[in-house]
Amino acid sequence: MCRHLAIIMDGNGRWAKARRLPHIAGHREGVQAVRRVVEAAPGLGLEVLTLYAFSSENWKRPAAEVSDLMGLLKHYVQSEINDLHRNGVRLDFIGDWRALKPDLVALLDAARLRTQGNGRLRLVMALNYGGQNELLRAAQSLAIAAAAGQLDPATIDLHAIESRLDTAGLPPPDAVLRTSGELRLSNFLLWQSAYAEFLLTDTLWPDFDGAALARALDEFSRRERRFGGR
Ligand code: IPE
Ligand code: IPE
Ligand code: MG
Repeated sequence: MCRHLAIIMDGNGRWAKARRLPHIAGHREGVQAVRRVVEAAPGLGLEVLTLYAFSSENWKRPAAEVSDLMGLLKHYVQSEINDLHRNGVRLDFIGDWRALKPDLVALLDAARLRTQGNGRLRLVMALNYGGQNELLRAAQSLAIAAAAGQLDPATIDLHAIESRLDTAGLPPPDAVLRTSGELRLSNFLLWQSAYAEFLLTDTLWPDFDGAALARALDEFSRRERRFGGR
């Protein structure tokens, strides 16, 4: 059973290009795919859905695109928060999201606090997220605690690291799905996906829907997971 699915939502630009539309039109349509997937997820048995929405490397994109993406994020949270809350969705964020613009941070934080008692689905949005950056921040936090004499370096174990990751308290993803045919992790959940199954589809993210999600989870159910055992 897939409890936690993490998705690298890719292919918005190619979707738009195929229609001779500007790149942002693909992102806008991508938001509709997010709505469809969030709606379908609980019925398909998912407890946690992590969506890679903006990577720490996406700042390299043209400033206008970055600003359009931030605008879409803001609009999504503002317009969907009531429905999400009513549907029992708990919204969470991973990544260095507190470094985003203050008004956006305030909006995200309010959405997070408002929905934190919900238990039907945990929707985790990776914002300004990079797996290397997350591990770097965890290492800094360990070093600071050790230097302050609050932590004996000899006792640092897997739990000490995991409890300092942005995903502390979340189960690791059972599967990582990437759309649009690309075959790479792009700095997503490097630590957490140690034993995740990869689910790959050529479908572009704006074309993804509940049926595509059901097919991916069906494929997952036929995988044999070993975790190093036999
Ligand atoms: C993925 O779509 C969405 C984000 C990275 C925010 P892209 O914009 O990467 O689409 P392609 O890869 O150019 O098709
Ligand atoms: C990964 O997609 C990031 C998100 C989906 C937010 P990219 O399109 O940015 O990844 P690369 O650059 O092709 O590896
Ligand atoms: Mg891409």
